[in-house]
Amino acid sequence: MPREQIIADLKAAGLVGRGGAAFPTGVKWEGAAKEIQARAVPAGEATGYIICNADESETGTFKDRILMERDPHRLIEAMIIAAHAVAANRGIIYVRGEYPLAFTRLSDAVEDARANQLLGINILNSGLEFDIEMRAGAGAYVCGEETALMESIEGRRGEPRVKPPFPTTHGLFGKPTVINNVETLANVPGIVMNGPRWYRQWGTERSPGTRLVCLSGSVRKPGLYEISMGLPLRSLIFNLGGGMARGRTLQAALVGGAAGAFLTPQQMDVPMDFQSLTAVGATFGSGAVMVFDDSVALWSVMRGITKFFAHESCGKCFPCQLGTQRQMEIVARAASGQGRSGDHDALIALGQTMRDASLCGLGQTAASALLSALDKKLVQAP
Ligand SMILES: Cc1cc2nc3c(=O)[nH]c(=O)nc-3n(C[C@H](O)[C@H](O)[C@H](O)COP(=O)(O)O)c2cc1C
Ligand code: SF4
Repeated sequence: MPREQIIADLKAAGLVGRGGAAFPTGVKWEGAAKEIQARAVPAGEATGYIICNADESETGTFKDRILMERDPHRLIEAMIIAAHAVAANRGIIYVRGEYPLAFTRLSDAVEDARANQLLGINILNSGLEFDIEMRAGAGAYVCGEETALMESIEGRRGEPRVKPPFPTTHGLFGKPTVINNVETLANVPGIVMNGPRWYRQWGTERSPGTRLVCLSGSVRKPGLYEISMGLPLRSLIFNLGGGMARGRTLQAALVGGAAGAFLTPQQMDVPMDFQSLTAVGATFGSGAVMVFDDSVALWSVMRGITKFFAHESCGKCFPCQLGTQRQMEIVARAASGQGRSGDHDALIALGQTMRDASLCGLGQTAASALLSALDKKLVQAP
């Protein structure tokens, strides 16, 4: 299939990234393809990179691990398609350090593909050259951020770069780079094989396709669910998830991981698609839905979340470096019943400053869950 056709099909299918930012995949590939074609590269050098972001460190998220462990060849196939579509000749899969089984299975699958002439020079006599290298992360949440991930691969400390320039023009080692999440890539072979109309039989007009949702917490049947976009949150929690344990009621659901927002029992009819979740101040994020029944102390949950962000902040910019520390201290105080007058206003001011002034998504979302919990009075500070 001509590369223009692949990119056109991805755009027509309406596939957007599943790593959190929901950026249109076809547009990303088109940008890298244009840049690679505009550059003349001596034979044997890298033209551009396809990176699979398999760092999956968002709290409550485990969808990419299941895909990698159960269907590694699908991912490799998607990366070969991407390489052909943008004319990149190098690929890297960056796997979360705590995923040894996924790393082994993917490494075996890469070797299998190479042995069967599906990777390497002149793949299946098509003239396409593309190979994949495996990399393991070392346990930093921020290394899932695309530019910090590239710094990490290049051998430096994993700190986000200032954007622009974007990876499609200045990515890994300065080369045009497509970086996509595991689930995003897993959608590609089906779209290329069956066409955009096939893909659009699921989901909504503006959020086509299906979505993997990692359901955890106080539900009877936690696990990984593939839903058609637009399924009401209530159906996910009460039908697929089996609802709360006997005698318990729903207190709140945290949608989108630690960087997401709380939804209350009154908001359960929201359709699970990008636009509807945004409209209620939430985000689909990494697809994590954590459910809390009325037995859970939400201040303790907030203590865990704020400790996580304070620990994971890379320290490159002050709003996040200092803000996540102060936020953690105030929340720890409140969680142990020692809140002081002015804590509520201080948390709001810190949260807004981090959101507006931080360099990367970590700091920009480090207060999202807390701000939504305060706003909905799920937790209260003096
Ligand atoms: C702090 C932080 C952590 C992130 N972690 C991940 C991750 O583990 N996996 C991922 O695919 N994207 C992660 N992202 C999003 C990536 O920066 C990037 O948007 C994504 O890999 C692009 O792929 P997509 O377009 O297929 O979603 C993270 C972003 C931030 C700010
Ligand atoms: S927002 Fe936080 S994680 Fe991101 S660059 Fe600034 S200090 Fe580092």
